[in-house]
Amino acid sequence: MAEEKEDHWSSEAYQHSASFVPKLATKIVQWLDPQKDDVILDIGCGDGVLDIQMHEILAQGSGSIHGIDSSPAMIAAATQAAQAAGASKCTFEVLDALDLARTPHLQRGQYTKVFSNAALHWILGGAGAGQQAGFFAAAGAALAAGGRFAFEMGGLGNVAEVRAALIGAVARRLAAAEGVAHADAVRRVAARHDPWFFPDEAWARRALGGAWRVERVEREYRPTTADPGGVEGWIRLFGARFFDALPDPADREACLREVADVLEVVCRRPDGRFQLGYVRLRVLARKL
Ligand SMILES: C[S@@+](CC[C@H](N)C(=O)[O-])C[C@H]1O[C@@H](n2cnc3c(N)ncnc32)[C@H](O)[C@@H]1O
Repeated sequence: MAEEKEDHWSSEAYQHSASFVPKLATKIVQWLDPQKDDVILDIGCGDGVLDIQMHEILAQGSGSIHGIDSSPAMIAAATQAAQAAGASKCTFEVLDALDLARTPHLQRGQYTKVFSNAALHWILGGAGAGQQAGFFAAAGAALAAGGRFAFEMGGLGNVAEVRAALIGAVARRLAAAEGVAHADAVRRVAARHDPWFFPDEAWARRALGGAWRVERVEREYRPTTADPGGVEGWIRLFGARFFDALPDPADREACLREVADVLEVVCRRPDGRFQLGYVRLRVLARKL
């Protein structure tokens, strides 16, 4: 099993600074095309907004949806929200998706569809080609013959302005604190503290390999308006792991402010709101 990690996720922060994530999932949900009798596995389900939304269809038949997520805070919020909504066919489980292959009750080919929105760039961040292949094999083992996997994740070029500002500011402080060359600090922050993996269409075809037929794949530039939490709320929630590179809490806070100052200029629109340069990679693959 993966070692226990700090839970950087908070459903309150997610709803304040990233509520657009499930709201903008219409297209990948269309690709998934949930039907009333579908038995769906949602990988990296977060606070369950999309699961509860799909429950409306599944409740009309024998369908159900099971969400897994490595964040206990997100799974607690999803469980509570499903109970409040009376979504009895939604179930949730705390699980690191990289442990799917070692989770026998999810490897019995019982799912008609597997789904994932905005989670694979976290799950596969830091995973090598072998681990990625293992993950897709495990997603396949969860699926019944002929089942489909529809996923959307950050694609090559996603939030490039945010990533540049984060790596630049954190590396500059690290280089000053440790007396190492700036270029070495940049490489270290990128290798050890950037949690994301933003690949392209060619990667998707390669990573899925011969066990799947890729039916659709696309990468789309989708500029996205920030939530009320603004740029600062976004980097506090999603960028938290970059700041782990800095041991001093006061230094981390100053660095976060420095990044926010840059992005509040770069990302500001004429109407005063902030826009982030999202790029989405969408894939629909059929298990062979
Ligand atoms: C941006 S949220 C997306 C949540 C949800 N799918 C949605 O559309 O709102 C990313 C989610 O991936 C989860 N996650 C990150 N790494 C994970 C892993 N290794 N295994 C399972 N879930 C993971 C996080 O806890 C978080 O809830």
